[in-house]
Amino acid sequence: MTAISTAADQSVAQSAAPLSAPPVAPSAGASVARAGPSGDSTAPFLWPEEGLSRIPFQVYNDPAIADAEQKRLFRGPIWNLVCLDVEIPQPGDYRTNVIGDTPVVAIRGTDGTIRVFVNRCAHRGSMLCLDKSGNRKDFTCIYHNWVYDLEGALQSVAFRRGIRGQGGLPDDFDPAKHGLTRLRVDTIGALVFASFSESVVPVREWLGERMAWNVDRIFAKPVRILGGYTQVMHNNWKLYIENVKDAYHAGLLHLFFTRFGLNRLSMDGAVEVSERGGHHLSWSKMHSDDASGTEYADGKLRSMKDFDLEDKRMLRSWVEYPDGITHMIQTIFPNVIIQQIQNSLAVRLLVPHGTDQCELQWWLIGYESDTEAQMATRLLQGNLVGPAGLVSLEDGVIGSIVQRTTLQDKDRAGVVEMGGHGTESQKGRVSEAGVRGFWKEWRQVLGL
Ligand code: FES
Ligand SMILES: [Fe+2]
Repeated sequence: MTAISTAADQSVAQSAAPLSAPPVAPSAGASVARAGPSGDSTAPFLWPEEGLSRIPFQVYNDPAIADAEQKRLFRGPIWNLVCLDVEIPQPGDYRTNVIGDTPVVAIRGTDGTIRVFVNRCAHRGSMLCLDKSGNRKDFTCIYHNWVYDLEGALQSVAFRRGIRGQGGLPDDFDPAKHGLTRLRVDTIGALVFASFSESVVPVREWLGERMAWNVDRIFAKPVRILGGYTQVMHNNWKLYIENVKDAYHAGLLHLFFTRFGLNRLSMDGAVEVSERGGHHLSWSKMHSDDASGTEYADGKLRSMKDFDLEDKRMLRSWVEYPDGITHMIQTIFPNVIIQQIQNSLAVRLLVPHGTDQCELQWWLIGYESDTEAQMATRLLQGNLVGPAGLVSLEDGVIGSIVQRTTLQDKDRAGVVEMGGHGTESQKGRVSEAGVRGFWKEWRQVLGL
């Protein structure tokens, strides 16, 4: 049993919290949590004795858990996506974002190196870069005009010597001690990751060979950003991440996939889960569908009823990669998604907003080498995804439909037994192994 309590949280360092997670002990009963108000710092949190095949509702609603995630997860031993390197091609180009709830800025230095800083002035904490992106020769704070160079060193302080001997900083003020907080940075493909952790292994090693394989597959050629958007969803961030890892739903919830045969559970495919559990791949091959003998052939599923398209150009596609995989969804623990749906390619980053809201950022991408016709197809297929996408709109709302039922009854839990109880990779996608994998690593990192 691990309690989340005010006292426990105070023992966690403000940043780069070392993991002092005790091993998870089996709980004495099936109940998840003690009665008590949400966030009650004295209420212990118990994971159900069934293990990863039960997801306690408390994880979506407890402010103490959300706070622990900020400290132990987002500032813990993981890599956080900040931007794509093609967004900041020139020296001085920057892109702001957040890691958990900490504002950060990625900037390319005059030496071409990408650095990531906490987007915060060392004086009184004002944010330095207020825009989403731009170009800077230095970081000049709007509040009192302190200036930092692109490597984060404090260069000048307005009125450092005061005026006519009055005021100013004391003689022992050392600018070298008041630079910006710099994070570790690593890249793979076009993805720029940053970490508060000094101990996490390089990104490629952290991903593992199989997960890095798909990142290399997607970013084998220079990419071009076609556009992007953000959407706010009214559910805990983990409900969306579960949805992305839930290969079981894709051929059921999404009318478009099943109706037009883009992605059915009866296709050749697999769910692959990383060793620690948190990363996953779910893929299928459209031209391998044999739906005979399945619920699809019976025509009984909601998703198979009478829907059609008058203009079917969106369904035209070409085989994007030599492996013949037409649908590949990858998650990188804890909150990054890489998507190949036909020829619609995208990177998504999910940002938690408290317990009951989250923001999904999308980068729609193509390749520099794309022909005009290929680009046009990507743009057309982009209508499948995003906040109003013919497929993704359902994912954007299903989390809030779940969230509302979990607010009370914290001693209840969701059932996740498709494909068994474990997290090993599986042929076929009638499986929730990816969901269990997420919770395996989440529990390890959070110590819960
Ligand atoms: S807060 Fe930045 S200069 Fe004062
Ligand atoms: Fe979905």
